[in-house]
Amino acid sequence: MVKLIKEVKESFKATFKVEPLLVFSPGRINIIGEHTDYNDGFVFPAAVDKGIAAAIQKSDTGSCTAIALDLDSKIEFDLDKLKPSKEGSWENYVFGVVAEIQNRNKVVGDFNIVFKGNIPGGAGMSSSAALENSVVFGLNELFELGLTKTEMILISQKAEHNYVGVNCGIMDQYASMFGIKDNALHLDCRTIQSKPYKIDFKKHQFILINTNVKHSLSDSAYNDRRSACESIATLLDVKALRDATEADLEKIIDKVTPTNYQKALYVIQENERTLKAAKAIEDNDLERLGKLIYQSHAGLSDQYKVSCDELDFLVAQAKKNKYVLGARMMGGGFGGCTINLVARNEVNAFEETVSKAYKNKFDKECSVYFIELSNGTHLVK
Ligand code: GLA
Repeated sequence: MVKLIKEVKESFKATFKVEPLLVFSPGRINIIGEHTDYNDGFVFPAAVDKGIAAAIQKSDTGSCTAIALDLDSKIEFDLDKLKPSKEGSWENYVFGVVAEIQNRNKVVGDFNIVFKGNIPGGAGMSSSAALENSVVFGLNELFELGLTKTEMILISQKAEHNYVGVNCGIMDQYASMFGIKDNALHLDCRTIQSKPYKIDFKKHQFILINTNVKHSLSDSAYNDRRSACESIATLLDVKALRDATEADLEKIIDKVTPTNYQKALYVIQENERTLKAAKAIEDNDLERLGKLIYQSHAGLSDQYKVSCDELDFLVAQAKKNKYVLGARMMGGGFGGCTINLVARNEVNAFEETVSKAYKNKFDKECSVYFIELSNGTHLVK
């Protein structure tokens, strides 16, 4: 993180000749509770020690510049002419945040920003939420907008909906903004309130394994699933699937397609699992937690259908190893990382075996990440 901050700072000073404000905004993991956030349900994320560093300062040239250092890409823009760029462009995260701040009748002046990250896009670790949060947090400081953290994450989320085109829930932006060192946050996505859980398993740790793939169409598949969930909630006459039970769903079985039935069932069950996982952590019962994590993956793969061969393979490898208590895909799906709960002194052996097996099977490398649970978006002095 220190190196990343230094890089954006020096690049900013070399380009704009002034001292910037420095913001670090983390990515996240999610222990369990996948695709439950936009159903008003529960999730269990934590901010990590990897994310986006941004250097930001007012501009007096009459226009704004944003530089994505990783991509070696630079864009100049005017604040009064903002509209979404072409799909998939990084600048949509920046433009979207500014436009959503303006929508709240807050005045943002011209600014310059340089940013760089150390989580690969598509890893399922929310580099996009980290970027959005770094922009809104930096602008809030710079122009004294008086936004609360909750307002900031809602702005980030709207940017994603309206400029990036993904109708995401609130988990990623929340975890990135409100993360607490050494804690995971059991978040109720309806009230946007969380309870921190200290994660200091003595003999186990979470590690991530990145498939290094991101299958296309994942954004439209995500939006499709969200609208399927919403239409089933309407059929059930509840506000969101969070309010439904398996018995409720059973009553409308004839009114939904079998595939949508399974999707709604998955959401109801995953929400239950997330509550059970919190209890397992309270009881310090990691075996039970691990089982819930494996069940979550099975649901994501077989019922919700957001996994892929690479993710399923990594989870199958984990299952073969008795020192891995649980593993599942993490985030939106169709690629990115698995999260694995592994006995500390077996981590290296597991890493070696999985990496070899993955290479043999897919003829490409996976990447293993060791993470620490960390604080949310903050200024760096
Ligand atoms: C993405 C979205 C989140 C959440 C997850 C799936 O990360 O941004 O809001 O829906 O997928 O749990």
